[in-house]
Order: sequence, then structure tokens, then C-alpha cells
Amino acid sequence: MRTPWIVPSVLNADPGRLFDEVARLDAAGVDAIQWDVMDGHFVPNLTFGPEFIKACRGATAVPYEAHLMIEEPERWIDQYVEAGCETVIVHPEVSVHLHRTLQEIRRLGAKAGVALNPHTPLEAIRHVLGSIDHLLVMTVNPGFGGQAYIAEMEPKIAEARKMIDATGRDIPLEVDGGISPSTIGAAAAAGADTFVVGSALFRDPGGVAAGVAQCRANLAEAIEVEAGSPISAIAGGK
Ligand code: DX5
Repeated sequence: MRTPWIVPSVLNADPGRLFDEVARLDAAGVDAIQWDVMDGHFVPNLTFGPEFIKACRGATAVPYEAHLMIEEPERWIDQYVEAGCETVIVHPEVSVHLHRTLQEIRRLGAKAGVALNPHTPLEAIRHVLGSIDHLLVMTVNPGFGGQAYIAEMEPKIAEARKMIDATGRDIPLEVDGGISPSTIGAAAAAGADTFVVGSALFRDPGGVAAGVAQCRANLAEAIEVEAGSPISAIAGGK
């Protein structure tokens, strides 16, 4: 199993202090940061253009993921790569030519990711798995932070785990939506190894560092129970 990653989403950060919020997450020892890019069409919310990400690039050295919840993602990939995103994640639901889009992300030097909405079957990526470097299984209907984790996605996570393992490739299996210290263990037990956490961190009374530490502790416990052996890798983070 990959060393699990905690990947905060800055969707619920203070929009007036994004640079400082990213620096705060960096200080909390996160492994990467996810930018939820929304266009008000594919999802009912509007968020970050590439300039916001570029302006925050200097706040941390950890990798950036651009989660493009937008129509016609192929029109924007180059700008998010240029803004400093090492991984670009697109949705097949709005990618008429998904294989070509994934190839373009790689051509631009980034890792090609796919995100699946709750209703979208893994069948949507079966024939392009060789072009995928990162798989994201949504555990909410995208658009907003603070929603409830959809536990019925766990069989899909387990199926994705088998699909990835069968490739023999090191493809992160990421979950996003309602991930918190109380749900991260179940998502890990289902097979996820990369965890997008948004509101649970920013709402933690002890601050984001406490939230990250609690997620890592609960994750370690869940994996220890699952594997029946002590895990040290998680406590150390990246
Ligand atoms: C889609 C977004 C959110 C966000 C995480 O709505 O992708 O899932 O990243 O938000 P929380 O962790 O608050 O569900």
C-alpha cells in the first residue's frame, strides 16, 4: 500500500487569505493540496481561476492538484499546469474525448487524473486506465464543501482498488467529499490511499494542524486494524 496522503482542499479556506491558509496547511505537514476548480455549469458553484493558484504557488513546495469540475476541461489544462499544478484531474462526464485529454495533460508534463461522480461507473475509465496517473472517487456530489460522506461509495472504492492493483502501477486512489477523522478509516478500509479533506480541517477547533494529526491517527488505527500490523509510515506523513 502507498504511504497514505492527506490532501487538504482549500475550498473552505478563508478566501481573503488564501496564501496564508496554504502556508498554514504546509506548516501542518500535509502531503499535497487540492484546488477545487468550479465553473458554475458542471457544478453549481464558481471558484478558482489559474491566477489564484499561481498567486499561492510560493506558499508551499508540496504538489498542487487541480480538480477541474468544469465543462470543456481541455480548454483550460495548459493554464492550470502553467499556474503550478503537478496533477490535473478531469471528469469523464464532461470529457467528450477523455483519452485525448489525458494524453494532453501528460504532454504538458503533468500527471493525468480522472474524477468520477458518485453515479459514474468505473467502466468509464476501463479502456483508458493506461493513460491515468491518478484516480479520484467522489464521495459527495461535487460543488460544495461540508457535505456528508456517501458511504455507499465504498464498494466502488474497493472495485477501484482491485482495478488499480491489477495494473501493477502506482496510481493514487483518492477520495474526496465528507472525509474527516470519523470517515477516513472507512474510506481507507475500502481501499483508498489518498484523502482530500476540506471542511473537517478548517472547522477543527484545534486548527488545521490538529485536524491533520487526527486524520493521520485515525487512518493509522484503521490500517493497523485492517492489516493487523502496526503502521509507522502514516504518522510521519510525506
Ligand atoms: C466537491 C469538493 C469538496 C471538497 C472537500 O464538492 O471537491 O468535496 O473538495 O470538501 P469537504 O471535505 O468539506 O467535503
